[in-house]
Amino acid sequence: MKLVKLIANLGYGSRKDVTQLFRSGRITDADGEVLYADDVVPYETIRVDDEPLDPPPGLVLMMNKPLGVTCSRKDPGRVVYDLLPPRYNVRSPVLSSVGRLDRDTTGLLLFTDDGALLHRIISPKAQVSKVYEATLAQDLRGDEAELFASGTLMLETEKEPLAPAVLDVLGPRHARLTVTEGRYHQVRRMFAAAGNHVETLRRISVGGLTLGELPLGEWRAIDADEVALIFSGTA
Ligand code: URA
Repeated sequence: MKLVKLIANLGYGSRKDVTQLFRSGRITDADGEVLYADDVVPYETIRVDDEPLDPPPGLVLMMNKPLGVTCSRKDPGRVVYDLLPPRYNVRSPVLSSVGRLDRDTTGLLLFTDDGALLHRIISPKAQVSKVYEATLAQDLRGDEAELFASGTLMLETEKEPLAPAVLDVLGPRHARLTVTEGRYHQVRRMFAAAGNHVETLRRISVGGLTLGELPLGEWRAIDADEVALIFSGTA
């Protein structure tokens, strides 16, 4: 791909803007030599204003999503994309969240610009487990683990019962739930179906990938080994 298009696709500006960056000598190699639009150079040697280029397409990020931000670009309030560098929001291919977390859910949220990867992660066929920790408004009754594992739990407005899910009780009002689907408000609706109400909800892992020490509200790129972890231990 020609350099102008490649750099424009990374969100540095329109092709016209990037052509202007070349003309102004702001695009150089690692030694500070000015590059020209027709040059053919390794990606990692390119600098814009002495800074390495943003990562190439195939980008995968993880975020520890904070409270109060939504995953919809259309939401008029604060959205998860506001927490990423502005350039990441004008890249082509587009960077999207992998599924969604509710405004009031915190924890592990993935982003990628790789559509095939995104579909592989969210496809129910892939059986990628998602682990949530919930605190509840009322004490657990004791029958929830059986109900959630049954494979027959039907949520209102759904046509198919939920796939079996695993509940680990961590305290009277504290539980960990492992699901392999990603239906709308699934975890909150599951506890509602068991007569309870989720007060706080946090996703702690997707497949074998966990949040680790990533602070709330922060994000980082993940590498191929970490992407492979998402699919580890899945069918
Ligand atoms: N289930 C929910 O109810 N909310 C989320 O954000 C994720 C799973």
